[in-house]
Amino acid sequence: MTILAISGSLRKDSFNSKLVALAPSGMKLEIAEIGDLPLFDADQETSGYPAAAQALKDRILAADGIIIATPEYNRSMPGVLKNAIDWVSRPYGTNAFAGKPLLLSGVSSGKIGTAVAQSHLRDVFLYLEARVIGQPELYLGPAKELFDESGAIMNDKTKELLAKALSALASEVGRK
Ligand code: FNR
Repeated sequence: MTILAISGSLRKDSFNSKLVALAPSGMKLEIAEIGDLPLFDADQETSGYPAAAQALKDRILAADGIIIATPEYNRSMPGVLKNAIDWVSRPYGTNAFAGKPLLLSGVSSGKIGTAVAQSHLRDVFLYLEARVIGQPELYLGPAKELFDESGAIMNDKTKELLAKALSALASEVGRK
């Protein structure tokens, strides 16, 4: 099963990029790029659709499922992530997220951080008809206590939660 991983952070040492790159067993993980997308411009939907947006769209269409790890910026999703979602959803009628199993997750500096951002994303993906995993929810933090120096998750409870969420995603993919 091929899973496409999208981080909502462009920061080099991003905790969310670390999280989304954790290789789940039995899944082939591919990492998507969203930092090279231009700002969404509806004039380019039908003429001059950007190659980077098309490439992302093709990878989403080809994947069996999607994992998103997002930071929370000012109690919502980062603009770069919304920009990527908007490109992938257009032109009207070609939304690549429709019917895709999708697992949301997020790491922030606080304990409940990313809950609001993920809630906003759930609304967006409900509209886009992605098959978003309802449980378990992955609101992970504080970020500095999450990973060891090798980038592995330190806490056993968090590891278990992540394994449960990945298994829920795998089941959803299997329901195709
Ligand atoms: C933040 N941060 C943050 N954290 C949070 O829990 N709720 C929030 O609303 C915000 N808002 C916010 C806005 C902006 C512009 C920045 C840059 C940061 C802190 C954020 O959780 C922290 O920087 C994370 O480390 C970002 O994730 P990455 O880049 O490490 O993946």
